[in-house]
Amino acid sequence: MQSFAKLLLLFGLLALASASPVRIQKRGVYKVERVPNPNYTGRNGPRALLKTLRKYRMPIPASVAGAAQQQTEMISKREPKRGKGHRQKGQNGGAAAGGQAAGSAANGTGLVTTTPEANDVEYLSPVTIGGQTLNLDFDSGSSDLWVFNSQLSTAATQGHTIYDPTQSKTFALMQGASFEISYGDGSGAAGNVGTDTVDIGGATVTKQAIELATAVSRSFVEDTNNNGLLGLAFSQLNTVQPAQQKTFFDNVKSSLAEPLFTADLRAQAAGAYEFGRVDTSKFTGAMTWVPVNTTDGFWQFTSEKFAVDGGTPQTSTAGAQAIADTGTTLLLADPAVAQAYYAQVDGAVDDQQQGGFTFPCSAQLPDLQLDVGGTMATVKGTDINFAQVDDQTCFGGLQATTAGLQIYGDIFFKSNFVAFNGGNNTLGFAQHV
Ligand SMILES: *[C@@H]1O[C@H](CO)[C@@H](O)[C@H](O)[C@H]1NC(C)=O
Ligand SMILES: *[C@@H]1O[C@H](CO)[C@@H](O)[C@H](O)[C@H]1NC(C)=O
Ligand SMILES: *[C@@H]1O[C@H](CO)[C@@H](O)[C@H](O)[C@H]1NC(C)=O
Ligand SMILES: *[C@@H]1O[C@H](CO)[C@@H](O)[C@H](O)[C@H]1NC(C)=O
Repeated sequence: MQSFAKLLLLFGLLALASASPVRIQKRGVYKVERVPNPNYTGRNGPRALLKTLRKYRMPIPASVAGAAQQQTEMISKREPKRGKGHRQKGQNGGAAAGGQAAGSAANGTGLVTTTPEANDVEYLSPVTIGGQTLNLDFDSGSSDLWVFNSQLSTAATQGHTIYDPTQSKTFALMQGASFEISYGDGSGAAGNVGTDTVDIGGATVTKQAIELATAVSRSFVEDTNNNGLLGLAFSQLNTVQPAQQKTFFDNVKSSLAEPLFTADLRAQAAGAYEFGRVDTSKFTGAMTWVPVNTTDGFWQFTSEKFAVDGGTPQTSTAGAQAIADTGTTLLLADPAVAQAYYAQVDGAVDDQQQGGFTFPCSAQLPDLQLDVGGTMATVKGTDINFAQVDDQTCFGGLQATTAGLQIYGDIFFKSNFVAFNGGNNTLGFAQHV
């Protein structure tokens, strides 16, 4: 019943996204955005916000939907079933499979560069699967590893690097297995499943479940540098049926020097993901470790307080929860946080037209302190300027969540080096160098 309600909600959202002819006119804007003009920031702000709200099935204010027209059709060889989305606890009918997978790492570590796309809307890192290297989006907010591959039509794979299982000596099809993930932003993927050897900067898993898309949504098709996702949330969210599969991290964990990975995401610069080691040269001061609430399969923690510019911490909502999500662009906090923060920014408005908080690009942005499991973390003001939307207006990287859950995306990571510890289910964070 719960997932049926979600299905209805998803189709509601899809309808919302494609209903108005006015929005179709704006498609040109999105094409322009893909021209590599370093100064053009277009409507990335509202689009990033809409993407996040949908990913987590949050209510979408009409203003946001209007400002962020999105294309949601699936490009496919065969039409998939749609709209299942994140699996809830207990829905999978069994523990994660993938018991045969084995991890190894020469010195117990694996290190890869992660490179931002324009406006830091996402970060991509090279992953070698059966000897073939693809750039994937590492997503600590989901748990499927799926790739563009040779089963997709040439229309869907144009400009992409694809994985071809027939060219891999180590690939094996997983008979009868399928996956279907919808990130709720109208983006999604579905297909079949096999296993192969996955190498991330020296950390290797043999017989890792690789999900081979036979259908992907248009937004992925158009995002030609992105050749798939690598989920790094807890395996309970994996969508493979009938036997749920383990994430790369779950499989490699026991072979790492330390059972953790770190995200070093930089503002408009290359950063890194590292498995098995905390590189202390990447941050200043001591790392703070806080407990993770794994109930919903996310890297989740309590976050009920905030402060602006080092002021006195105030409570936003008692008991409020947040997740650390590398696969989300923006920082979606409690509405009380966004309101109080932008009240301190000259000229900032909650702009119905742009679908979120905007401010004059010339404004000085104060730092924001956010409670991460009981300790305050700082997000630098400069990291909160997400993108220019017109001549003088900038779109805020901090926006209000429209449901209870707060989502601390890449805007948070740019200011903070973060370790995801699967040994004791804690998150470590420290101010970036
Ligand atoms: C881009 O911005 C820079 C710095 O503001 C400016 O000097 C340059 O002329 C701009 N380029 C274009 C194509 O607008
Ligand atoms: C682990 O081995 C790799 C490859 O030989 C090397 O580049 C890296 O520096 C080593 N890392 C550590 C922490 O020793
Ligand atoms: C853990 O998360 C669940 C689901 O989001 C929430 O209901 C619960 O209150 C959280 N537990 C704690 C101790 O915060
Ligand atoms: C979890 O592990 C980290 C690093 O291994 C350690 O520093 C921290 O104290 C541990 N935290 C808890 C609560 O056990």
